[in-house]
Amino acid sequence: MYSEKVMDHFQNPRNMGEVENPDGVGEVGNPQCGDVMRITIKVDEKEDRIEDVRFKTLGCGAAIATSSMVTELAKGKRLDEAQEISKKVVADALGGLPPQKMHCSNLASDGLRKAIEDYRSRHGN
Ligand code: FES
Repeated sequence: MYSEKVMDHFQNPRNMGEVENPDGVGEVGNPQCGDVMRITIKVDEKEDRIEDVRFKTLGCGAAIATSSMVTELAKGKRLDEAQEISKKVVADALGGLPPQKMHCSNLASDGLRKAIEDYRSRHGN
């Protein structure tokens, strides 16, 4: 039911934990199941680029796999590019998710977007 990539990211999550002294923090909860995610980012201000990104997710296997994948997709991207990483982009990068698990990828894309918004609000734009 899960793709190999989903299983891989679930069993060996990338970029787990917290960035030290983060420039932006995003915390989101999934109203459908109560699972939660926290994502922290370090931003290269000159380049407007995500230098480092880490996640902590208390949730199902799909939530962990999508969190892991979103950090891989976001790392090194400019903020405006990273903001465009939708839940579909994350799910596609994982080789798809079962339909009843698509909502789990909300956490990852919403969390990343919130962290970027947080960074922007701290920097006055
Ligand atoms: Fe909660 Fe997957 S069941 S995020």
